Amino acid sequence: MSGDALGQDPAELRRRIDSSKAHPARVYDVFLGGKDHYPADLDAAAAGLAANPRGYLDVRHNRDFLRRAVTALTREDGIQQFLDIGTGLPTAENVHQIAQRIAPESRVVYVDNDPVVLAHARALLTSGPEGRTDYIDADLRDPARILEQAAKTLDFDRPVALCLVAVLHFVEDEAAYPLVRDLLGALPSGSRLVLSHLTEDLNPENIRAVQRTYTERGFTFVLRSKQDVERFFTENGLEQAAPGVVPAHHWRPDHAAPVPERPEESYLAGLNDIEKVRYADINDVTDADINVYAGVGAKV
Ligand SMILES: C[S@@+](CC[C@H](N)C(=O)[O-])C[C@H]1O[C@@H](n2cnc3c(N)ncnc32)[C@H](O)[C@@H]1O
Repeated sequence: MSGDALGQDPAELRRRIDSSKAHPARVYDVFLGGKDHYPADLDAAAAGLAANPRGYLDVRHNRDFLRRAVTALTREDGIQQFLDIGTGLPTAENVHQIAQRIAPESRVVYVDNDPVVLAHARALLTSGPEGRTDYIDADLRDPARILEQAAKTLDFDRPVALCLVAVLHFVEDEAAYPLVRDLLGALPSGSRLVLSHLTEDLNPENIRAVQRTYTERGFTFVLRSKQDVERFFTENGLEQAAPGVVPAHHWRPDHAAPVPERPEESYLAGLNDIEKVRYADINDVTDADINVYAGVGAKV
């Protein structure tokens, strides 16, 4: 565990948590059916859902892309090291649980800048005995610090999968492209980039309405085109794995997304729309729902 993460003074941690404003990790947690958020996050999520009533499918299919990508990389490509930046709140399942089920010796370093994620980071550190996990409290815009800290857990002479899943849309172009270049530049050949990103290419009306609700709340929310998303791969000389950069639900679908247990209809009837999201089955997705591109590339 990095000294500046779980070791942080609890009073200092509480000072860093601003529960009066929505924060991306906690709004995302609402859509994933988690419980680690505040009323401001719930309000933001409800406004996002009102703007795009099937928007929970973006979130859940994005998370399911991460599951499929980590599974494929571990099982098929022998990748056993992951640097997951913009981790989000612990959920079922986290990257180390997915990877270590296949390769118990897998090592995972998680990075996020939200103090609420930090407060829950112990749940990200439940490595099996043969593997290792660590949590770094850091900003994606500071790749040098991330790389320095991650080197305590990851062996940079062996391939690493850099996971930037639903995080780069919080970063403007002038920082986003250089930071991906710096991170990938430190990784050896055979390393991978696992990337997903919000776009307005697919269903512009819905996602622009969502963008408005979140930018009003102070989020940076950069929607990138397919070409912009591909640039993260091409500019760094990566070989894109099939099927390339595609809407998230089309990236090697295996139809094995966890289906939440559905409560009694009478209980559901008493819930509002955002509360119902946690019980939604995502298997009825169509192309008219998804606003997320996803892809994986390899460093040659
Ligand atoms: C939408 S969530 C995605 C979580 C997870 N990667 C997934 O796709 O399931 C975005 C996460 O990125 C984190 N994040 C946003 N900007 C960040 C930054 N500049 N540095 C580090 N983490 C950041 C947020 O705190 C949040 O946990």
